[in-house]
Amino acid sequence: MEKIQPVRGTKDLFAEDYLKHEHIIAIAKNIAHLYGYQGISTPIFEFGNVFKRSLGEASDVVGKEMYSFVDKGNEEITLRPEFTAAICRAYISNGFQHLLPLKLFTHGPLFRYERPQKGRQRQFHQLNYEFLGPSCPEVDAEVIAMAANLLDKIGVLKDTILELNSLGCTQTRKNYQEALVVYLKDFENELSYDSKIRLAKNPLRILDSKDENDKKIIINAPKINNYFTSEAADFFAKLQEYLTLLGINFKINHSLVRGLDYYNHTAFEFVTTALGAQGTVLAGGRYNGLIKLLGGDDTSGIGFAAGIERLALLCELPEQKLRSCAVIIFDNAHTNIAMKIANELRLKNVAVQFEPGIKFDKALKNAVKANCQFAVFVGEEELKTNSVKFKNLDTRLEKTIKIEDLQYEFC
Ligand code: HAM
Repeated sequence: MEKIQPVRGTKDLFAEDYLKHEHIIAIAKNIAHLYGYQGISTPIFEFGNVFKRSLGEASDVVGKEMYSFVDKGNEEITLRPEFTAAICRAYISNGFQHLLPLKLFTHGPLFRYERPQKGRQRQFHQLNYEFLGPSCPEVDAEVIAMAANLLDKIGVLKDTILELNSLGCTQTRKNYQEALVVYLKDFENELSYDSKIRLAKNPLRILDSKDENDKKIIINAPKINNYFTSEAADFFAKLQEYLTLLGINFKINHSLVRGLDYYNHTAFEFVTTALGAQGTVLAGGRYNGLIKLLGGDDTSGIGFAAGIERLALLCELPEQKLRSCAVIIFDNAHTNIAMKIANELRLKNVAVQFEPGIKFDKALKNAVKANCQFAVFVGEEELKTNSVKFKNLDTRLEKTIKIEDLQYEFC
């Protein structure tokens, strides 16, 4: 019979992979708490237009990567490829204006039909933070500092470089785009196939082309900083001052344009060389105007997302030192009393491994393998005095204690 396979670009999370995801999410929740971000969870699918309008028809995500379908009610539905547009939609549909400034944290699975490779899947997971309300360099610096703190706590900041750019205000982008097109027109025949198409649809995206020949052409292209309005230049200069004040290292990269259309002013990415082609671990930026574009008020926003799979590839799982113990029986005749002991300890918040039916030697081996700190041995001799043997598996010290006193060993 044909063997059933997982869908290409999807993965089951199990054992170490599962634990790493949980570990990363726990750190992310703690960071959200430290910086005052509230949790939000939006549906896994939305009307297609939420993403089409937000990310731009010419973006790769909308043009090539969305999982969209028409449902039985004839609605065009899309599995979310990112969180930002969905969160802005939620802000509008729930009327969150009175909560501003509003800091929101979410995490979960996302879907993009991309070519799978190391660090790139079709179902992947992100940690995502959005700060809606004020538009000023102080907020942008705080958001970037939070991103650095998150990566540091996960243990991967040291492997990354923060690349920073400003896409300026709408006027900056417009002026710059015109100048860029004039420059690139002279090289139109030499550009890669994708870049030729982007020249008409979305010329800024040519700047982060991975094609070697495109890169040679781009080196001499006009730079966005020469087109900043004074407001945009001032915003960017202040952001850099604040980052320096907070001790955050960064590298200016004027070719950093990000793949989604909604960005303006600050754009940033934490990149690593440790993951091959998929080196962007965390990415984000400012998106003033997006909520308005989706039909809401003129509320500004900035945020970022980090790919959990990429973080998991880079980070180590800390050694688990739970208050954990194994309850092990010498003889099946003691199963009942061992079950009761295990149950009592769990009621006292001790993690207990109990494997009825497993022979003594094997159960002890399993306890060591599972990193249990202690073992409780239930045997004939000790039970005569209502006692058990209690062993510290790290120090190997052993003593006999009354069953009723067991709980105090874990305080
Ligand atoms: P993005 O650059 O499309 O931005 O994705 C952010 C991060 O998600 C990437 O840097 C990467 O770590 C991870 N990622 C993206 N696609 C995949 C994939 N196919 N497989 C594995 N990991 C992936 C956004 O999604 C924006 N919404 C970020 C944002 C939030 N901007 C403002 N607020």
